[in-house]
Amino acid sequence: MKKKINVAMIGYQFMGRAHSNAWRQVNRFFDPPFEPVMKVVVGRSEEGVRQAAEKLGWQEHATSWEQVVARKDIDIVDVCTPGDSHMAISVAAAENKKTVFCEKPLANTLPEAQKMLDAVKKAGVVHMICHNYRRAPAVMLAKELISRGELGDIRHYRGTYLQDWIADPKFPLVWRLDRNKAGSGALGDIAAHSIDLARFLVGEISEVAGDLKTFIRQRPLPGNPRRKGRVTVDDASTTLVRFASGAIGTIEATRMALGRKNYNRFEINGSRGSLAFDLERMNELELYLESDPQNVRGFRRILVTEGTHPYVKAWWPPGHIIGYEHTFTHTVFDLLEGMARGRSPKPDFEDGVRNQRVLGAIEKAARTRRWVSL
Ligand SMILES: NC(=O)c1ccc[n+]([C@@H]2O[C@H](COP(=O)([O-])OP(=O)(O)OC[C@H]3O[C@@H](n4cnc5c(N)ncnc54)[C@H](O)[C@@H]3O)[C@@H](O)[C@H]2O)c1
Repeated sequence: MKKKINVAMIGYQFMGRAHSNAWRQVNRFFDPPFEPVMKVVVGRSEEGVRQAAEKLGWQEHATSWEQVVARKDIDIVDVCTPGDSHMAISVAAAENKKTVFCEKPLANTLPEAQKMLDAVKKAGVVHMICHNYRRAPAVMLAKELISRGELGDIRHYRGTYLQDWIADPKFPLVWRLDRNKAGSGALGDIAAHSIDLARFLVGEISEVAGDLKTFIRQRPLPGNPRRKGRVTVDDASTTLVRFASGAIGTIEATRMALGRKNYNRFEINGSRGSLAFDLERMNELELYLESDPQNVRGFRRILVTEGTHPYVKAWWPPGHIIGYEHTFTHTVFDLLEGMARGRSPKPDFEDGVRNQRVLGAIEKAARTRRWVSL
């Protein structure tokens, strides 16, 4: 019998649903060292969280995260709330010696992120930030190919994360458009993922030049569409990056690119080849190798569904594709493995802080219209 460990999840909407699915599935398909128990889900409204517990499969529900993170029977605190509460919940969880699994971006500001890192280090607990896209099998394969030197020296990283869900000016002023709640707009919401992938695949970013734009400055208030409120975050960000390795890159993020739904794409060019990934076709990796015979040289489409590909053996036979939700299951699987070894899996809060530093530098570069060194 595996040791059972109790999970408490704070927040139960989009990420709450994705994480619940991962906690539910991980032991069904993988063989982690522990059996996670979906012990308690926390929300602010008693009725809402009761319904969520029932629907998502949590044993209990509660309305005070402060009480829940102090409970002796809780082992993991899973933070699925907006950025304005990540620090308070994570620091309290660390002080209570819990493993802390936190959604991205780690916090709304660099000092907050740093406090979270200090807290988990001081408590000596396992910590991880949920940049789940690292754990798409095709992204892991990209990492393997780059690490093996198949692409040679990396010269370019081109990251684009494009969505279109706020293109309509009638779309209401939700929390993601409020700086106090979200920290920033497209930048922290989705460029943060491209930054994480850039750091994962190419290495540390050493300098940035950035531009931020808010196209629609006033939006209808949720629940009261006749009144408008001010948008206090960017709708879009464009960034030039320099890597410590000498590579250069671009990172563009917007929630205003009509027709693009979750176009999280990157292309990487090296001295011996190139590769490209698009989340909307997440089972595929495009690879070009200069060493291929000239007459058949070109981008090939690798269907990353073989049992030899990262994480795939746990799922289905070749060609039986997986989806968005599987990236979260892979992430919690690695978190459980990390807990068994007493080591924080990557990306951890240190990565969260480094990512936040890049986000802050892009904001500063945009404000001052200058390159900013990290
Ligand atoms: N990894 C990813 O791909 C990904 C995708 C979307 C969102 N996120 C991140 O996940 C986090 C949550 O985003 P979401 O899309 O799930 O938001 P959401 O609005 O769908 O859900 C937020 C949840 O948090 C609850 N909540 C808010 N403030 C709270 C508080 N103070 N105490 C307790 N509960 C509180 C809300 O009631 C809701 O249940 C954000 O940090 C976001 O950036 C990550």
